[in-house]
Amino acid sequence: MLDGKVAVITGAGQGIGKASAEVCVREGAKVLAVDISGAEDDVAAKLGDAVVPFHADVSVEGDIAAMFGAARDAFGGIDGLMNVAAVHGGRRGEFLSLEEYDAVTPLNLRGLVLSMKYGIEAMLESGGGAIVNVSSAASLGVQERVAAMYQATKSAMNTLTKAVAVEYGKQGIRANVIAPGFTQTDFYGSAKPEIVDYMASKAALGRGGESREQAEVAAFLLSERASFVTGVVIPVDGGWTARLA
Ligand SMILES: NC(=O)c1ccc[n+]([C@@H]2O[C@H](COP(=O)([O-])OP(=O)(O)OC[C@H]3O[C@@H](n4cnc5c(N)ncnc54)[C@H](O)[C@@H]3O)[C@@H](O)[C@H]2O)c1
Repeated sequence: MLDGKVAVITGAGQGIGKASAEVCVREGAKVLAVDISGAEDDVAAKLGDAVVPFHADVSVEGDIAAMFGAARDAFGGIDGLMNVAAVHGGRRGEFLSLEEYDAVTPLNLRGLVLSMKYGIEAMLESGGGAIVNVSSAASLGVQERVAAMYQATKSAMNTLTKAVAVEYGKQGIRANVIAPGFTQTDFYGSAKPEIVDYMASKAALGRGGESREQAEVAAFLLSERASFVTGVVIPVDGGWTARLA
C-alpha cells in the first residue's frame, strides 16, 4: 500500500506512533521515526533499514526544521507526515488553569503548526503528499475526566487539518485526522485499573483499542487508496462517539 513512500512520524518511540511506523514499514514505506525519549533508536533497530531514527523535541522549531532536513538527507524527500506526539490530557488541578494551558499548547498546538508548516514545504518539493494528524475522540465532545485544554488543542488540530486540506488540495496535499478513542498504549500502562475499565466500557465494542488498530487507519489515509479523502476527521473509537453517554 505504501511502496515508494517516505513518511515522517513523530512520537514513534512507543504507542500509536510506534505502531504506525511498524504498519507503514510493513506496507512498504520508509520512515523517519522521531521521538524525544530515545526509544526511536530501538524502533529503528527492530524494524531495520527502512527506518531512520531521529531524536527531536517537536515543540522546538529548530528541531522540527532539522527533522525534515534529516528526512531529505536520508530519503531524498517526503510525501507523508504523521503528527502523533502530544502531551496527554490528565487534569492538572483547577478547571481552566493556565498551568494546564502552558503544559499542553507548546507541543499539541504550536508544535503541530510548525510541523505542518515545514512538512508542507517539504511535500511541495516532492510534488505533494498526505498528512495524518492524531487528535482524539475527546476533540468531538467533552469527556469530563480529560483536561479541557488538551481537548481544545485536539479540536484545534481538527480545524487546522481541514484548513490545510482546503488550502493545499490543488497542490496535491491531502490532510486528514484520526480521532482515537481509548487505546491501550504504553501511556495507559501506569493508569489505575478502574480508570482503564471505565474508559474501555465507553466503546460500543466494550473494549479499548490497540495501537495497531489506529495505525491501520492512518496508513490507509497516507496511501493512494485514500486518494479522494481529504479534510475529514475519522473517529477510530470502537463506537464511543456513536453513543450519547
Ligand atoms: N492512547 C489513547 O487512548 C489516546 C486517545 C486519544 C488520543 N490519543 C492521541 O494519540 C497520540 C499517541 O498517543 P499514545 O497513547 O500512543 O501516546 P504515548 O504517550 O504512548 O506516546 C507518545 C510518544 O510521543 C513522544 N513525545 C512526547 N513529547 C514529545 C516531544 N516534545 N517531541 C517528540 N516526541 C515526543 C513520547 O516520548 C512518546 O514516545 C497522542 O497524540 C494522543 O493525544 C491517544
